[in-house]
Amino acid sequence: MARVKTTLVSWEDVVRWSRGLASKIKASGYMPDVIIAVARGGYVPARLVCDFLTINNLVSIQSQHWTEAAKAEERAIIKYPYKIDLSDSKALLVDDIVDTGESLLLAKNYIQKNWNPSEVRIAVLQWISSAAKFRPDYYFMEVKEWVWFQYPWTRLEDTYQFFKRILSEESKYGKVEWDFNGLVKKFVEWYELDVGEEYFKDAIGLLMEDGILRKENGKYVYLGSK
Ligand code: ADE
Repeated sequence: MARVKTTLVSWEDVVRWSRGLASKIKASGYMPDVIIAVARGGYVPARLVCDFLTINNLVSIQSQHWTEAAKAEERAIIKYPYKIDLSDSKALLVDDIVDTGESLLLAKNYIQKNWNPSEVRIAVLQWISSAAKFRPDYYFMEVKEWVWFQYPWTRLEDTYQFFKRILSEESKYGKVEWDFNGLVKKFVEWYELDVGEEYFKDAIGLLMEDGILRKENGKYVYLGSK
């Protein structure tokens, strides 16, 4: 499997980008009555945008991708559909990133149809213009070449997944036994990313809980992916 190109995003970046995003929204003259965080990636940016724009009304919707194995194509679904009345309200949908944009488009359509706001606009921290099906109304940063952004709110799950990929690839070449430093070194070499010792430990702990790694005589042994 290809090693995806990754960029580490810090908490400080997130605050700076959210502040910048909020000032673009403010400068446009659009004053939303309610912010809708798209779960899960939009939670932190949405809360920060509330703070920077002095908005009290914050709700959420979970729109997510799932892979339809039979068709091998990505589909977005609204995970917990519910109705609220946003009549006469201006809404702002906030997410971390527009990549293909499919899940955000679905959320927007769902909200327009079921929540009845007077207007919905979309704001994101990052817009991958080469991958996206549309241009969001507001974005802090345009990204021209696709990369995986390692946001602080997916640090553990990404580290876990990246380790799984490394272990599965390396085992094809017969490498199944590692020490902690060897695992970390490989991770940094593959992804050019250092998430810090605590996250490395947590991710390796999860891999053991899931039966993917087992500790034997002080070494981690790869048992295959579940
Ligand atoms: N979610 C969807 N696309 C992403 C990307 N390129 N980086 C981080 N999170 C994402």
